[in-house]
Amino acid sequence: MMEEIATGGMVSSVAEPDSATQSAMSCARAPMGLLAELTHRCPLQCPYCSNPLELTRVSQELTTAQWQDVMRQAGEIGVLQLHLSGGEPCVRQDLEQILEAAVKAGLYTNLITSGVTLTRDRLEKLAKLGLDHVQLSIQDVDPANAERISAYKGGAAKKHEVAKWVREIGLPLTLNAVVHRHNIESLPAIIDYAVEMGAGRLEVAHTQYYAWALKNRAALIPTREQFLKTVKYVDEARERLKGVLVFDFVVHDHYAIRPKPCMGGWGKNLVTITPSGKVLPCHAAETITWLQHDNIKDRPLGDIWLNGAAFNAYRGTSWMKEPCRSCDRREIDWGGCRCQALAMTGDAANADPTCEKSVHHAAFKAIAETEAYAPSPGFIYRRMGAAAAVE
Ligand code: SF4
Ligand code: FES
Repeated sequence: MMEEIATGGMVSSVAEPDSATQSAMSCARAPMGLLAELTHRCPLQCPYCSNPLELTRVSQELTTAQWQDVMRQAGEIGVLQLHLSGGEPCVRQDLEQILEAAVKAGLYTNLITSGVTLTRDRLEKLAKLGLDHVQLSIQDVDPANAERISAYKGGAAKKHEVAKWVREIGLPLTLNAVVHRHNIESLPAIIDYAVEMGAGRLEVAHTQYYAWALKNRAALIPTREQFLKTVKYVDEARERLKGVLVFDFVVHDHYAIRPKPCMGGWGKNLVTITPSGKVLPCHAAETITWLQHDNIKDRPLGDIWLNGAAFNAYRGTSWMKEPCRSCDRREIDWGGCRCQALAMTGDAANADPTCEKSVHHAAFKAIAETEAYAPSPGFIYRRMGAAAAVE
């Protein structure tokens, strides 16, 4: 027997799920998006990096053929959007071949890049091959501060060039700025910069504290007053720049009272594949160490998505405890972030402590109030191996 997943007109066949996962699957359909972390290699060393503390080495990365097969499978099960990410995806010399496979599979392709290794020729080639969109990260508009945050010399100037090329070539551009206490005062200038560069979208993302960011939380966390200023800046600019610039604003969890629906709900919209081929419900899911993550080398993507133990662990609402279980927002925010619940409360099935209904909310809020008003420690830079340095 086979189960059909219908997704926006695309239909694919996968093995029928076992009965234990039938109810959880009632909310599952094909993932809307695939985050393909092609590599953990990256010339930048941002202290808020969402990659795991244990970075995957090049020898463990999926091969070109394996990534191409991932793209084929993603198209078959009805994935719509592909986010080519890393690390820095452009350090893969076979990016073109992987992109070609994705285009052939009918995926909308978004390149998430720091830009620093790109050349204009390569960008033109990627556009010719069918790349649909570029998302370029910026650390600050002040070059010296951007260099300090990323530990990469000349980054801001190079990113400026890349942003220009993207628009000259005719690709849509999103700028992404992770905000924290070392660049938060630059937000108005970052907004102006996005307009100047012709970006259609600006993602202003307050740091999410897991992986390297959690390690660097005391150095990154802004004060409540700083956070509230960013809300004001974004609200004002959203109004003023209607039709010019679209904003994605990720709020600061420690100053919120309701969590965001992390990943749009666990196992609901997104699937992540790590450089070594692990298929994850979210990019930080390996922090929930008891979960068993399947590898794309061993099992088809559609089968993992529907039947994988990790995907079904927190899919839907049946896993919820109080206060989420009886809450009328349980199918709006899906209890928030599992990884943050684990990191901050010791149980991934607890409500995200961002929620004021959580018994852990007060302690979670107090962390920010303590750390944000203390002097910032140095950054622990994201580096391969144990070489992370405090500076
Ligand atoms: Fe969301 Fe749970 Fe809080 Fe309700 S109790 S708002 S479902 S996190
Ligand atoms: Fe894993 Fe939020 S980061 S569920």
